[in-house]
Amino acid sequence: MRFYVTTPIYYVNDRPHIGHSYTTIAADILARHQRQRGVETFFLTGVDEHATKVWRAAENAGLSAQEFVDRIAESWRALPERLNAETDFFLRTTDEGHKAFVRQFLQRIYDNGDVYEDVYSGPYCVSCEEFKNDDELVDGKCPIHLIPVEHLEEKNYFFRLSKYQDALLALYDEGFVVPEFRRNEVRSFVSSGLRDFSISRAGQPWGIPLPWDETQVAYVWADALVNYLSALTYAHPGEDLIDAFWPVAHHLVGKDIIRFHCVYWPAMLLSAGYSVPKQVFAHGWLLLDDVKISKSLGNALDPFELIETYGADAVRYWCARAVSFGQDGSASFADIAARYERELGNDLGNLLSRTTAMIAKYRAGRIPEGTTSPAIAAAIADIADRVPEQIEAFDLTGAIDRIWVLVRELNRYVTEQAPWTLAKDEANAEQLDQVLHDLADGLRAAAVAIWAYLPETSPKILEALGQPTDAAWERVAAGELEPATIAPAAPLFPRIESSGAA
Ligand code: MSP
Repeated sequence: MRFYVTTPIYYVNDRPHIGHSYTTIAADILARHQRQRGVETFFLTGVDEHATKVWRAAENAGLSAQEFVDRIAESWRALPERLNAETDFFLRTTDEGHKAFVRQFLQRIYDNGDVYEDVYSGPYCVSCEEFKNDDELVDGKCPIHLIPVEHLEEKNYFFRLSKYQDALLALYDEGFVVPEFRRNEVRSFVSSGLRDFSISRAGQPWGIPLPWDETQVAYVWADALVNYLSALTYAHPGEDLIDAFWPVAHHLVGKDIIRFHCVYWPAMLLSAGYSVPKQVFAHGWLLLDDVKISKSLGNALDPFELIETYGADAVRYWCARAVSFGQDGSASFADIAARYERELGNDLGNLLSRTTAMIAKYRAGRIPEGTTSPAIAAAIADIADRVPEQIEAFDLTGAIDRIWVLVRELNRYVTEQAPWTLAKDEANAEQLDQVLHDLADGLRAAAVAIWAYLPETSPKILEALGQPTDAAWERVAAGELEPATIAPAAPLFPRIESSGAA
């Protein structure tokens, strides 16, 4: 079994913000979940460097484009690391391996007769890096960025996209795009007729020269999309991973770039003689209710700042839970503080503190052995059975909600059983053993289950319970507790004194 997941490659004209972290976190949850299940996984991310806006940003900074991207790429490379995303490769479109592959790829499309020369004359939005139709504009502005578009008129090479209309429609019938409501949007766009698009730029020196006409460079999207395939040819020097991973490719993208991924990219692949990726999942945007508030707080939009304050796990947790993954939604920075305190601090952190403290106090630290109670075992079994299918369906929010059902159940159990009262009477010794055993086993299983979401917290819980830190999914099962003698655990999510955003 294999699994390949990608994030879009990010434009390096600016610094990372929380919206970029969102896609990377989601992809990492998917990748880690598959690894837990023993699936051989490849997780790709990287940066998109040949954009016009990157070239212009370099000019503004008084640097050559290459110098500029070399400097800024580093802050992008730090993003997955700081988010604790376990990526397998970080691609830069200025990598020699990528550039060489793009040239071969475009040559294949050319050789297939799908490229012709024409004049492009029309609007272009530099922020979208997209050729626009006049009827899409609002008062002459890009409807997404609300900035004036530029008028381009140049001799370009065009790709015969229109030829692939039927093939694309057939793909959508096979569930190539998820969720369904996004698939319907794409289908109606394609059904209404496709216009060929320009795959080259004549007026810009920054980019990959076309193999058949070196006076032109590849249009940035015709270069960037190819990264998903090119990476597999040079990520492991001397090894071609295409056969192993391309058939199981899953692209995670924001809804704003669906057209490129669900229309242009599969058509280009078919033309170049490759199969299409398995699926494209389009998520919504994480919109912020209180962008104004966060702006007044300085750079709270900066993911590095959020990680500094709350830790990577809390940021990951918030991204997975604040908005139902796949839907559009709004969140607020107050929400991250509230969830940190209530759900991570109280529900999970206090549960571990109380459980370990009671085992230390009432049983001299020895976790009582026994058989886990049916109600707790059932909540664990529910996670083991259902979470994998939810994650396979990209329901990242539903899956963490289900894991939290167990966490809440354990909290309810503590309140109901009141171990501190049981401890007062030796006649209740057996029942107290049962309760302490159940809590430890339930927390252990929850810790394994949340590893994909909270990769720092999960081993901390397992260590506090004297358990192996192995996150293999089959350990999400009742009765896997190993004998151990433990001490009261340090708080998992200490109170943050001035959380600023609260
Ligand atoms: N370079 C192109 C992608 C090329 S992929 C072959 C690009 N880059 S981007 O940096 O502008 O955006 C990358 C991703 O970040 C997109 O999927 C976009 O949807 C996502 N997000 C940017 N802001 C976002 C939010 N506020 N919320 C969620 N995701 C958003 O497009």
